[in-house]
Amino acid sequence: MSTLLEEQPEVIAIHGRTLAQMYRGRADWDAIRRAAKLVRETPTLVLGNGDVVTMPQVVQRVRETQVHGVLIGRGALGNPWIFRAKAWARQQLSTPTAEAPSLDVAVRERCQVALEHARYFEGLHDGVPFQAMRKHLGWYCRGFPGAADMRHNCSRRPPPETLHGCSPPSRGRGVQPGEHAMRRAGHRDVCWP
Ligand SMILES: Cc1cc2nc3c(=O)[nH]c(=O)nc-3n(C[C@H](O)[C@H](O)[C@H](O)COP(=O)(O)O)c2cc1C
Repeated sequence: MSTLLEEQPEVIAIHGRTLAQMYRGRADWDAIRRAAKLVRETPTLVLGNGDVVTMPQVVQRVRETQVHGVLIGRGALGNPWIFRAKAWARQQLSTPTAEAPSLDVAVRERCQVALEHARYFEGLHDGVPFQAMRKHLGWYCRGFPGAADMRHNCSRRPPPETLHGCSPPSRGRGVQPGEHAMRRAGHRDVCWP
């Protein structure tokens, strides 16, 4: 850490595992705490990362380790709503008050956002196999009744070519690229915004 600090970086982000560990075991937040203590003696900012999946955990990690911030990876996959509570988290760190806000997200909203994501994917990654998007669709389908079936469909529906030319499910508009994406992921009945 002292070698890194000699370079006077603006920010250092620390993941609490070694390269050899990959995702095995738990991130070592005590090591992050020790590193943060050193960084805190300099103008560099320090961010911690590893196994944080809720905003209350963010607050807890900042309190325990004195990092300036926390990075969230897998906790945001299929769950971009996690960041809705960031203002709450900031407030907790200065003036602990209210309980964490409810982050219940309606299934319809989940599906709308998944559809939007799929549209972006098809727009940005022309020619890239849709397989890369399927896992994200699966991550959106968690934590509500019927989610397992939807995940199953996300991974097994046939490729888009079989659906081209389908009539739209509603509103009489043409089928958009992302709609093909969601149709082949199995969301035909529930996802149309
Ligand atoms: C889909 C995905 C892609 C990632 N890509 C990178 C990457 O390109 N470079 C990197 O240093 N870490 C990458 N990571 C690791 C994350 O930045 C993070 O350190 C790790 O997921 C642990 O944090 P988490 O427990 O919040 O997921 C990636 C993680 C995931 C899940």
